[in-house]
Amino acid sequence: MTKQPSAPHGSLSRADFGADFVWGCSTSAFQIEGGASADGRVPSIWDTFCQQRGAIRDGSDGSVACDHFNRWPEDMDLGRSLGLNAYRFSISWPRIFSARGAAPNEAGLDFYSRLVDGMLARGLVPWVTLYHWDLPQYLQDAGGWTNRDTVAAFVEYVDVVTRRLGDRVKHWITHNEPWCTAIHGNLDGMHAPGLKSLPTALQVCHHVLLSHGLSVPVIRANVPGAAVGIALSLHPIMAASDSAADQQAVARHDAFRNRWFLDALYGRGYPVEPLQMMGADAPIIAPGDLAAIAAPTDFLGVNYYFPEVVKDDANAGFLRTSVVLPEGRERTDFGWEVAPEGLTALLARIARDYAPPDMYVTENGSCYDDVVGEDGSIDDGKRRDYLVRHLAAVRQARDDGVPVKGYFAWSLLDNFEWSEGYLRRFGIAYVDFVTQKRTLKASGQWYRAFLGGQA
Ligand code: FCB
Repeated sequence: MTKQPSAPHGSLSRADFGADFVWGCSTSAFQIEGGASADGRVPSIWDTFCQQRGAIRDGSDGSVACDHFNRWPEDMDLGRSLGLNAYRFSISWPRIFSARGAAPNEAGLDFYSRLVDGMLARGLVPWVTLYHWDLPQYLQDAGGWTNRDTVAAFVEYVDVVTRRLGDRVKHWITHNEPWCTAIHGNLDGMHAPGLKSLPTALQVCHHVLLSHGLSVPVIRANVPGAAVGIALSLHPIMAASDSAADQQAVARHDAFRNRWFLDALYGRGYPVEPLQMMGADAPIIAPGDLAAIAAPTDFLGVNYYFPEVVKDDANAGFLRTSVVLPEGRERTDFGWEVAPEGLTALLARIARDYAPPDMYVTENGSCYDDVVGEDGSIDDGKRRDYLVRHLAAVRQARDDGVPVKGYFAWSLLDNFEWSEGYLRRFGIAYVDFVTQKRTLKASGQWYRAFLGGQA
């Protein structure tokens, strides 16, 4: 039996979080923009991946998505009407550079410049993610993130974007979820470029982190008053049983899923045990790389969706752990466990072990199969409860003294959910992908009422 969602929310008010709290929604370029060949944009690895038979569950692609490329003023109006004071979005690298060594594409830069102006005009502070998985295909053709030159290409791209937007954009996130870039893209093949190679995935992982570290001083040099961070996908890890073997599996799993990134970013180098377990598949780490990765940042972005339950499994991957899905847990329609207390615990653990100056929940949200009512409304009570309970979890962390300073709901809009195509809806606004009509769901109406926005 699945546990029913507990009754909403007790009393929760915006004021509980303090006047300076950052309230946003998150999106990413490939998932919403469309405009695939507009203004000189070239293909990304996701455009290519979508062409592979069977790669995307509904056979779709991102060529139109939410048509945000054309409809962004309406989307920013929606953000303002919710009462948000911030908006997190990503820049599509293939809009900015059409080839290695090419001059920057002014039309691509202009698009983001207009978008940023549109946000500021509506009271939304722009939070830019520089890499949310859409690597230019021409770089993949040259080896992608396994090629150290891609690190240099990223730093050049960051230099150009931050020079152009840095007069107005002060909040910069280098990478979104390097674990997913590396592992879904190159080990389990679920994401572009769809490879299945452990040494490739591990080298990609290292180079992505290196490109983060080398970008930090570039952003600081170009943007007076910049706040720079990275957004990690982090998970509390739990044992499938009380056995000593499963407890040890938790430690090993955590050491790669979470600590690999946190330890390196906070100056401790890579944890020893997973590095040893990688053996000959371990990445090539050049002298100075770890110092570069540990460049001090201003905040940590925490993307939280669900905890992971693991067991010892001698036949499973280099960590010898596998993820299990225990019966009887509350889950979203995507199967992800609903565990708001996991967010409180995760934030507390990061504060205790790494003491980042500030933390932001840069993504959190839920996927449910929405039903459009006869009157056109979308009564997504479960998504609303998920939102409310996770906000209560953030408040708890704050009350416990954890420096969490903002929350970005994933996502403003239903969108292209990677290998699931348009089958998975995470939006607080519903998108009809035939008409492109946006309709605020009950969850969005709750968020608007909570934030004090105006219908
Ligand atoms: C995160 C991704 C985001 C979205 C959500 C549901 O891992 O960063 O783009 O797909 O999951």
